[in-house]
Amino acid sequence: QLYDFGMIGLGVMGRNFLLNVADDGFAALGTDINEESVRALNAEGEGMNVKGVHTQKEFVELLSKPRKIMLLVPAGKIVDTVIEGLLPLLDNGDIIIDGGNSHFDDTNRRYEYLKTKNIRFLGTGVSGGAEGARRGPSIMPGGDRSAWEVVQPILETVAAKVNGEPCVTYIGESSSGHYVKMVHNGIEYGLMQLIAEAYDILRRVGKMNNDEMSALFSQWNQGRLNSYLIEITASILKMRDDKMDGHLLDVILDKAKQKGTGKWTSQTAMDLGVPVPTIDSAVTMRGISAFKEFRQDMSALFDVVHPEAPAIKGEGLAAAVEESLYFSFVICYAQGMHLLAEASAELKYDLDLEGVARIWRGGCIIRAALLEKIRQAFGGHPELKNMISADEFRDELYRSRDAITEVLHLANERGIPTMCMSSALQYFDAFRSERLPLNMVQAQRDYFGSHTYERIDQKGVFHTQWD
Ligand code: 6PG
Repeated sequence: QLYDFGMIGLGVMGRNFLLNVADDGFAALGTDINEESVRALNAEGEGMNVKGVHTQKEFVELLSKPRKIMLLVPAGKIVDTVIEGLLPLLDNGDIIIDGGNSHFDDTNRRYEYLKTKNIRFLGTGVSGGAEGARRGPSIMPGGDRSAWEVVQPILETVAAKVNGEPCVTYIGESSSGHYVKMVHNGIEYGLMQLIAEAYDILRRVGKMNNDEMSALFSQWNQGRLNSYLIEITASILKMRDDKMDGHLLDVILDKAKQKGTGKWTSQTAMDLGVPVPTIDSAVTMRGISAFKEFRQDMSALFDVVHPEAPAIKGEGLAAAVEESLYFSFVICYAQGMHLLAEASAELKYDLDLEGVARIWRGGCIIRAALLEKIRQAFGGHPELKNMISADEFRDELYRSRDAITEVLHLANERGIPTMCMSSALQYFDAFRSERLPLNMVQAQRDYFGSHTYERIDQKGVFHTQWD
């Protein structure tokens, strides 16, 4: 028997993705240098059309041509090593799909290199964690279009579905798939930090306990905040610890790790000159969280600065926090989409932003009811760059300004850090400012460096002998 689809890397993601492929009626083959992972696949796939083999030679021989090989291995050098190992065994026209979180620069390099070897390459974002991989992820393939046409039937079948539409589409040339996945992760960082700040405000301003907050997040999940991240937050809040009498969340160390995709989003946004301060703030907060000992020392030093203000209980606070969170979610998506719009032109990806919003509606970590509205905002408006101006969002953003201002005021009074949420409000206020004080910055630049400035009352470029 020959197999339709191959997977190299049988960690939890790879194994689950492959079982999903087999579920959908395709013959699925996997391999891994770790023998235990191969055994695990064979055990889990018992009775299904899926098989794990131990050598790459056997793996390649058992795949139907053109071979469709996905890699789900850790991003970085390992991807290159696996590709080099495969190359002598492959035929012209075979397809390699890198399904990991590779940096788009690496994907560009591999795409060009593999072209010279007559191998078709798809740099592909896969989102949804282990559960998504097993039941239906959101898939973002970019690169060789003819390769996409070959794997399209398989990927469309395994992807999550929303209203019958698969959460996968051809994203564009070269590294566009990995770029879009990276921005997905940047938005993911932003949303996660925003939820964390809302939790902190409810806890420290509203003095709500975990079970009350869990119920509140569940309630929010029924409304306009409906999303995977709000849903899991409700579950996390009520989870009890089996080792002690209390909630697990309360004993989890407050130092966040990161694998880099959020940081890369900020880096490329800086390179392209696109402001994404809510994503930057989320990356920064992970950075600050890592300085635990310094934070401990500082909290002892500065504790007296923020005396405990009285708790503000009741539905008013909950409603205002919900509104603030919704406002901030919209801004966070807006920043990510704006980055994609600018990158599309700059990096020649020719992205269809409506399509991106459509395939993020299901399967991925940032899936949310809001994405249907985002899809509508970009639908029929390919020129739209920043969705804060779209009919779908304009009025409600403006209306929510009062609530978020009030919530941030309550947090500021108590010294509760809200870097992400504050950045969302600041971003909105900065963009709706017809005049910013950056005339001062221009004057200073000209003062000390003769960098010149433009004027609002005359055309041309000017320099002044200031003193
Ligand atoms: C997904 C996730 C996933 C990512 C984790 C961890 O879409 O399924 O984005 O790809 O690896 O979220 O990322 P950090 O370790 O950087 O938080």
